[in-house]
Amino acid sequence: MKFFLDTADLAEIEEAASWGVLAGVTTNPTLYSRIGGKLADFPNHIKKICDMVDGPVSAESVAMTRDEIIRDGRELAAIAPNVVVKVPTMIEGLAATKALAAEGIPVNMTLCFTVPQAIMAARSGARYISPFIGRFDDISEDGLAQFADVVQAIGNYDFTDHTVNGEKIEIIAASVRSANHVAQAALMGADIATVPFATLKKCVQHPLTDRGLETFLKDWEKVQ
Ligand code: G3P
Repeated sequence: MKFFLDTADLAEIEEAASWGVLAGVTTNPTLYSRIGGKLADFPNHIKKICDMVDGPVSAESVAMTRDEIIRDGRELAAIAPNVVVKVPTMIEGLAATKALAAEGIPVNMTLCFTVPQAIMAARSGARYISPFIGRFDDISEDGLAQFADVVQAIGNYDFTDHTVNGEKIEIIAASVRSANHVAQAALMGADIATVPFATLKKCVQHPLTDRGLETFLKDWEKVQ
């Protein structure tokens, strides 16, 4: 499983990229607004992220009609070769994804929750599908169980005749809230987990690692 960072914060991206495990970035309108981003600077900001990351960078269209999403998608894809256009799972989104994929523009279909949504996203030509985990938990449903169903259903079929350049569809575990979400998504066979910075940091930490390190350092002092 690859690690993407779910953020629009350049400092977080720079730091995570320096760890050597970052394979991509996903952004969304909320994450961009959270860093105080402004519409006029959006293309420039996405370009900065694309230059910092050796991997796909998802930039979202907020348009509601297929023609507008296609127009957005073309504009976003022109920013950098590693841009992936993020499109919401909805009828207009499916139609736009079909058109963008036909032009060789990769799409990450977002706000995906259920198996039928995921299968439709795949059939429309999405290169990435982002089933959300945490938002199911927010409404007292089992986000990981829903995610497992999507992974299994997508794995049952070959969608390579629908994707850009016949590439394998990749499932991005999204709305990830904990290291346990990351662990379970990996066990279920997620291709990618897109993780907020604080959670990504927690993925490398464990109390037993800290305790073991403390002991090693103390014992090493004894041999000085
Ligand atoms: O980028 C989409 C997704 O990861 C958002 O997560 O935490 O806002 O549900 P969250």
